[in-house]
Amino acid sequence: MKLFFNRVCKIENKPMKNIVLMASGSGSNAENIIKHFKEKKLSCQFHIITNKKDAFVLERAKKLGIPAQIITKKENDEGILLQKITEINPDLIVLAGYLLLFPSEIIKNFPDKIINIHPALLPKYGGKGMYGNFVHESVVADKETETGITIHYVSDHYDEGAIIFQAKTSVAENDTAEDVAQKVHQLEYEHFPQVIERLLSGV
Ligand code: GRF
Repeated sequence: MKLFFNRVCKIENKPMKNIVLMASGSGSNAENIIKHFKEKKLSCQFHIITNKKDAFVLERAKKLGIPAQIITKKENDEGILLQKITEINPDLIVLAGYLLLFPSEIIKNFPDKIINIHPALLPKYGGKGMYGNFVHESVVADKETETGITIHYVSDHYDEGAIIFQAKTSVAENDTAEDVAQKVHQLEYEHFPQVIERLLSGV
């Protein structure tokens, strides 16, 4: 049987899940999540939304055959993102490297359905301006011996919602920020899809 996973994948009569993936840059997590669900033949429909017209996640979406849309910060402010998400009515909204503060109107309308991944062990190294390499550089500068990932619900403040899951990795004395980024990405690839799967199945 040929599966058109990229459009609709309803397999073995499981109810189809609608997942919005939000990313501002590379989108390697978004791709990894999509591939995980595809490999496990889990019933779902993905939608990718980015705020950057040159985000690499758009290339990944094209290659994977996933519908993708650019909604800028200005359009967020005009209510376009709320409109789009209301239309999709997702089971889960996943911020995977999405750098804008998420509109509070959407948070209000989709309680407990919006999650974010942060590349550190919150509450450490979180908050406005703490993203990407800034996080890993701070971890190295502070001579931390461990770091990790935090998956949490999204609230009106950067990186402050209730924590769902954390995983740790060690930081060696001579690790650079790039080394740390690589270790953290590995943790993200390993755990993020599984946490999403668990949340969708209500476990
Ligand atoms: C990840 O490290 C994630 O934790 C953070 O942004 C990064 C996104 O990486 N929020 P990618 O775009 O998925 O490669």
